[in-house]
Amino acid sequence: MAYSLFRPILFALDPERAHHAAFAALDAQAALGLARIWAGALPAPKPIRVMGLDFPNPIGLAAGLDKDAKHLRGLAQLGFGFIEIGTLTPKAQPGNPTPRMFRLPEHEALINRLGFNNGGVDDAVKRLQGRDTRVPVGVNIGKNAATPIERAVDDYLIALRAVYETADYVTINISSPNTKNLRDLQAPDSVALLVASIVREGNSLGKKQGKRKPIAVKIAPDIDDAIIAEVVSAIIDAGADAIISSNTTIRRDGVAGHAAAKEAGGLSGKPLTARADAVLTKVVSASAGRVPIIGVGGIMSVADAQRKLDIGASLVQIYTGMLYRGPGFIGDLVRGVKVR
Ligand SMILES: Cc1cc2nc3c(=O)[nH]c(=O)nc-3n(C[C@H](O)[C@H](O)[C@H](O)COP(=O)(O)O)c2cc1C
Repeated sequence: MAYSLFRPILFALDPERAHHAAFAALDAQAALGLARIWAGALPAPKPIRVMGLDFPNPIGLAAGLDKDAKHLRGLAQLGFGFIEIGTLTPKAQPGNPTPRMFRLPEHEALINRLGFNNGGVDDAVKRLQGRDTRVPVGVNIGKNAATPIERAVDDYLIALRAVYETADYVTINISSPNTKNLRDLQAPDSVALLVASIVREGNSLGKKQGKRKPIAVKIAPDIDDAIIAEVVSAIIDAGADAIISSNTTIRRDGVAGHAAAKEAGGLSGKPLTARADAVLTKVVSASAGRVPIIGVGGIMSVADAQRKLDIGASLVQIYTGMLYRGPGFIGDLVRGVKVR
C-alpha cells in the first residue's frame, strides 16, 4: 500500500477530518494486527536507556497527534520507540473555534492553533490503565484555558497527580503558542518555581507509589537566543529529568506570502527544521550532559533525524513529517538512523 495514493485523498479533506479518517483506518488495521505492515521489517530492538527508561529505538511520536491516548495500539504497530500523548488538561475543553489547522503543502508545513482540545486527564488515564503497548508512553500535561496564568501551577499539579501512576514519563508543556500567556512560564524565574513545585510533588508521589517517574520540560523554539542557556539551567537546577526541544514556532520564516502564513498559531514541519536545530544545539551545549535532550521539530527525512541525534539529542520525536511522508516513515527512520 503506497501512502502516495492515499495522501491526495486525505489532503482533499479538511485537516481535522483527514486526521479522523486516517486514525479510523489505522485503528481498523491495528485491530487485525495489520498496521505493522506499514513499518516493514524492523531491526531487532537495541534498547537505549534514557531518563532511566528503556526505549527500543529513538524515534518517538511527538505530543498532540494522539492527545487522548485513543490510538496507542496502531501507533505502536507503526514502529515508534515511544509515544507521547496529550497535551492533557485537568478538565476536558473544546479548544479554539474551527478552522484551527492549516496545511502549507508547498512548504511541507502545518499551522495549528488547536488550543489543547482534549477530553481531560481522567478520561485519558482510564485508557492508559488498560494499555497493552510495550513501548514507553509519556504523558504531556498543560493548563486549562480558563485557569488564570497566575494559578497555572495548580493545574499542572492536578494533572500530574492524575497521570503519575500510569505514565512512563510526564512532560510539562509550557511552550504551546495557543494558550494565552502560557509561554511566559518559560521566563527563568517562573520556570524555576514551576518546575521545582512539580518535581517536589512528583518525588512525593513517587515515594508513595514506590516508583518515581521522570519529568521532562518542553520548550519553544522562540525563546530568545540570549536567554536559552539561562532557561535550560533553571529547568535542570529545578530538578527536571529531560528537556524536549522544541514545540512549534510563531515565526513565519520561509513561508511568508503563503495564503495560510497569516493564520495565528504554531508552525511545524520543514520550515521549522533549521530553527529547531539551532535551538537544539544551544540546549545541548547549555545542558552539558546533565540531562538528556529530546529533539523535535521539522524531521522530514532520515538525515534530519540523524542530524538531531548527532547534535546530541538522545531521542527524537516526529509529528508533521508523518503527515507528509505517511505511516511508513517511522519504519524508514528506525532503519535509517544510527545511535551513537
Ligand atoms: C496539529 C498539532 C498539534 C500539536 N499539539 C501539541 C500538543 O498538544 N502539545 C505539545 O506539546 N505539542 C503539540 N504539538 C507540537 C508537536 O509535538 C511538535 O513539537 C512540533 O509539531 C514540531 O515537530 P514537527 O515539525 O515534527 O511537527 C502539536 C503540533 C501540531 C502540528
